[in-house]
Order: sequence, then C-alpha cells, then structure tokens
Amino acid sequence: MDTTLVVFGASGDLARRKVLPALQAACASGQVQGRVGVLGAGRSTLDDAGFQALLGEDEQTAALAPSARWVRLDYGDPSGYRRIADLVSSCRQVVYYLATPPEVFPVIVDSLAAAGLNRRGDATRRVVVEKPLGRDLATSRELNRRLDTGFEEAQIYRIDHYLAKDTVQNVLAFRFSNSLFEAGWNRTLVQSVQVTAAEEEGIGTRSGYYDGAGAVRDMVQNHVLQLLALVAMEPPTTFDARDIRKAMLELLRAVQPIDPQSAVRGQYRGYLEEDGVDRTSRRETFAAAALRVENWRWDGVPFFIRTGKALRQRTTQVVIRFRDSPALKLEGIRQRPITTLLQLRIQPHEGITLRIGAKRPGTRFEMVPAGLDLEYQGLAGRPLPDAYEHVLAEVLAGVHTVFPSGEEIDRSWEIVGDLIAAWEGGGHPEVYARGSWGPEGGEELVARFGGSRWLNPGEDPSQVGGV
Ligand code: NDP
Ligand code: BG6
Repeated sequence: MDTTLVVFGASGDLARRKVLPALQAACASGQVQGRVGVLGAGRSTLDDAGFQALLGEDEQTAALAPSARWVRLDYGDPSGYRRIADLVSSCRQVVYYLATPPEVFPVIVDSLAAAGLNRRGDATRRVVVEKPLGRDLATSRELNRRLDTGFEEAQIYRIDHYLAKDTVQNVLAFRFSNSLFEAGWNRTLVQSVQVTAAEEEGIGTRSGYYDGAGAVRDMVQNHVLQLLALVAMEPPTTFDARDIRKAMLELLRAVQPIDPQSAVRGQYRGYLEEDGVDRTSRRETFAAAALRVENWRWDGVPFFIRTGKALRQRTTQVVIRFRDSPALKLEGIRQRPITTLLQLRIQPHEGITLRIGAKRPGTRFEMVPAGLDLEYQGLAGRPLPDAYEHVLAEVLAGVHTVFPSGEEIDRSWEIVGDLIAAWEGGGHPEVYARGSWGPEGGEELVARFGGSRWLNPGEDPSQVGGV
C-alpha cells in the first residue's frame, strides 16, 4: 500500500456514513493517487473478515473492503498500537483519522506517540481530528497542546468541512481573480456584510451532543467564522495553504469578541419536547450577531451573522451590500437608488448574483433591480464534489488549504467566549416558530446596527427591494 488510512472508531457513525464513503469516492474520481488501504481500529469485536463484511454491505464503501484490515484495541493499550505499527511499517504515508468522541483523542494521541507511530516532524505521518475542537478557549488550548506534544503543526489536519465546500473555496477565487470587485471590497464601498447559515432540519437525533453545545459552538465558532474570514481577509501572498491560513488568522484577530448586547438567541418551538432534551433547557438553536472587524479595511462596516435550526429553508449565503449612489433628482423628485448587492450562494443553488440598478424600459428614469447571475454548478457540468471527498483528498495529498490552524481555532473561541458565558449565565432564548426566519430580535438586529434588513435565503436579490 502507498497509503494507509488508520481510522480509530471505524465502526461508528461518522466513519461509516462520511469518512469511508468519501475515501472511496475520492479514489474513484482520481483525486487520490496511488493505492490506499483502510485499517479500522476500535474496541468493537471485529476481525479483518468482519470489518470487510461491514464495508461490503454498503456500495459506497464496498470497493474498500477487499484490502481492509481491523485491529481490535482498547484505546490506551500499547499492544494494539504495536499491531498497527507492524501493519503500516512498509507504508509510505500513514494517516491517523480520529473518528471517536473527543474524550478519546488524548489517549489515542499519547499512545501513537508512545509507540513511535507519530514520527514527530515527518509529514508522511498525519493526524486528522474532527469537531468539536474543544468547547471553549481552555479546552481548545488543551487539545492543541496535546496534539502538539505528539505531532508538529504540519502533520495535523483539523476538519472544518465548510472550508472544503467547493463554493466556499470559490469565494477566494472570486475575490482574488476579479480585480473589479476587490478594488471596492472595503469600507469605502461596502455598507455591510451578511452571513447566513440556515438549516431547515431540527436537531434530529443529536440531542445528546446539541443540548450541551448550541448554535454558537456548533456553527458560529467554526463554519460561520471561517466563512467570514475568507470573505473579509486581506489578499494572501499566494494561494498556498501557509499564506491563506496566515491571512485568515490575521482577519480573525481583527474580529472583536462578540458583545452579548449585539447578539440575539432563539430556540425553536418544540425543541424542549425533542427526545433527550432537558425540558428546562435554555440552549439556543438560533444565534444572530453584529460583529466588528477592527482593521483598516473594515472600520465601521457591520458584519451580521445568523445561523439556526428549524428555519424556513436550508441555505448558506453571504451578501455584500454596497453603498448607495447619491440620489439624483428627476423633475424635482429624488430617485431612490437601487442598492447594489452581491450574493454569494454557498448552498444550495450554488452561484453568485450581482444585483444592480437599471432603468425600467419605457420609463424616463424609473429604477428597478436587475440581476447578473452565475450558476456555479453549470461551470462544472456535473454535480459538485462532496466536501468530505475534498477533505480526504487534501489530507492524502498533504495540503492544508482547507484545514484551519490551531491558532485560528483558539482565536475563534476567543471571539465567541463572552457570548457563550453570558448566555450560559442567565436569561432565556426567544422562542421562534419552526419554519420561520428565527426570532423577531434577529430581524431587528440588522436595522439596529446600521444595516437595512436580511436578504432572506431564497429571495432573488434582483427581484426584491429594500435590502
Ligand atoms: P460515535 O458515537 O458513533 O463513535 C464512533 C466510535 O468511537 C464508536 O463506534 C466507538 O467504536 C468509538 N468510541 C470510543 N470511545 C467511545 C465512547 N466513550 N463512546 C462512544 N464511542 C466510543 O460517534 P460519531 O461517529 O458520530 O462521531 C465521531 C466524532 O466525529 C466525534 O468527535 C463527533 O463529534 C465528530 N463528528 C461527527 C459527525 C457525524 O455526522 N456523526 C459530524 C461531525 C463531527 P468502538 O466501540 O469500536 O471503540
Ligand atoms: C455540522 C453541525 O458541523 O454542520 C451540524 O454539527 C450541521 O449541526 C452541519 O447540521 C451543517 O453542515 P452542512 O454541510 O449540511 O451545511
């Protein structure tokens, strides 16, 4: 084998539903070079044949089955790691994927190091960790410290699957290969920025995790801030991972910790009746906030973010609202200019719409919104690659572009720290109806902090006014 993916917790939900199917797909599509084998590891009473049968049951993993191996181990037991060492000894690359609950990460990292499997400093030995990457700044630092004792930063891959979405990466390409936009991408021309990550589903069967986490830990600390960083960061010197991560960290350092006074929390009606949720839970299933980015480029420009479960429609998007042109008079009456908006649709209906003002045909100077539209998927001519496929391909290629650094993760916890503390310290979320756009406070937030209103997902910016 050229590469072995050692998956700890390979019998679990994440490994079987996401990681292994993505590996098979990445191999099949040619994104991964060379021969790749899977070595499952965990406490489950499996052997090679049993693991192969498990993979064979699902057509999305069946191609991985013939060469798959299983090592049964207790996560802290050195003998299991000695078996792994024997099995991977002739492999050029070895990737350790921690698909277990986070409590088990430290013992796995320590055991890998004790067995010499980490080969500290050797970039052909890599470790992959999944969210949650801590639950606050202290636990995030502790996790980073633990990872650092076994591996160098160049060997560590922290997953934020949003960064691996094709349209999220396209934000970079769009910004930095179209100088027309980049020239006005600052406080001079931008009035405000909105980032929305809305989900239609409730919490489903994940109460055990979600009721202890909430929307800020689940979505804001990671996906939303990473997306915001790509939208707002300075141009990196190159598209290489080192430069991109540096630019993202710099931007996150400029984002001020969220002031609880400029944030709104909500909980969907019926959350307290979900299976496994504490009946008195004050956990937020919706969060919105106005953020300040204190640097030269963005001084005074409000950044609005919102995310939530059980909202009207699943959509992630970024909306850049440009400053209005001066209103000109026509026959003594001021003509209200049409606000220029740029909508970056991350998912679904991936694409970009630029709303501009045009003259209504046949009138003197009556202005109407019009749109220039790019359907991103149309460029590909086939379905967009899955984010996890991209994650796997990049880990196996040893490229860090879609993986946040430890410092970025720590800084993101600093940004949300006061908010989490305030919300856990008291008060109650505003209840909102399932299928709405969240609590009223969320709607008002934008006007309160100098914006106009949210452009709601699904609204065609070239058809609506007033945003
Ligand atoms: P599971 O609860 O299914 O656990 C995965 C495997 O970990 C289990 O099959 C088990 O294998 C092993 N394990 C080791 N210690 C424990 C323990 N104390 N309790 C339960 N299992 C244990 O988790 P998921 O697969 O859902 O998630 C794994 C990781 O990925 C977590 O960090 C999770 O937060 C993260 N994640 C999961 C997502 C998902 O969609 N499921 C999405 C994003 C992140 P064995 O018994 O063989 O040792
Ligand atoms: C995960 C969160 O990280 O991202 C989930 O834990 C959320 O709560 C999911 O549903 C959203 O991902 P996507 O790719 O479906 O937008």
